[in-house]
Amino acid sequence: MIIVGGSSSRDLAKELAAILGYTYVQAATTRFPDGECYTRIDHKELNDDVVIVQNTYPDGNMIEMFLLQDAVRRLGAKTITLVIPYFGYARQDRVFKPGEPESARVMTRHLGLDCDHIITVDIHKESVLDYFKCPHQDLKAAGPIADYFKDRGIDLVLSPDFGALGRAKDVADRMDLLYDHLQKTRLSGSDVKIAPAEVDCKGKHVLIVDDMISTGGTIIAAAQALREAGAESISVACTHGVFVSNAIERLTGSSLDTILCCNTLENELSHISVAPIIAEALKR
Ligand code: R5P
Repeated sequence: MIIVGGSSSRDLAKELAAILGYTYVQAATTRFPDGECYTRIDHKELNDDVVIVQNTYPDGNMIEMFLLQDAVRRLGAKTITLVIPYFGYARQDRVFKPGEPESARVMTRHLGLDCDHIITVDIHKESVLDYFKCPHQDLKAAGPIADYFKDRGIDLVLSPDFGALGRAKDVADRMDLLYDHLQKTRLSGSDVKIAPAEVDCKGKHVLIVDDMISTGGTIIAAAQALREAGAESISVACTHGVFVSNAIERLTGSSLDTILCCNTLENELSHISVAPIIAEALKR
């Protein structure tokens, strides 16, 4: 098997190849002066099962993925597996207002034109995967997150809202801890209101888990509510650190004690690796 690292996910792709003992091939991707994507795999042939590791966010990375699919097929790939650590557009999984596109379906349709298997990690809406016609699998980052925080004195795991309670439970169960959820009301794209959890947080070392941090609004409001409820320390771990505009500065300047994310998106806070769970899935 050959692992091809797209420009968004080179470190993760290299780590996967090292764990599995597979060949790592790096795509050389640049931009033309007008911004169009150019990519090249400098090999005569890839006559093997090929795994492309590349995000579909931001938009330019989606285009790179399309080009890589074509490049590896032309080089003789027997099968193509797409590993999409962070799948963009999963939040627009339906038409909310007349006249909108069903963005997630558009993306899956185009990605699915030439691939044999798709692996994602904590996709925002699992129902989006059903749009793929080929076999697909969504991996959960709860294991790597729980492994990281095990033995770090956490007492309680919380999700910011009821919808994400399953993730908090998954992490808490692996650490043998209590879990609960906060009550989130979204006021705007970047502002949310958080009501306290039912469980008593006073004097507790709390870990908040979420699938993604985008503006940071959710986590900052959650941290404030937990401070008011008397939490002793507040850590946060998310799968995808999207961190738009100045989110990292806002988060590091807030009352949070620890902020970490997985390396589905590579950035200065992505210290929890999902490579072991992806490697397991590829082996299977
Ligand atoms: C919402 O459903 C997600 O799980 C996240 O809580 C949300 O996308 C985080 O966004 P932000 O960081 O902008 O509050």
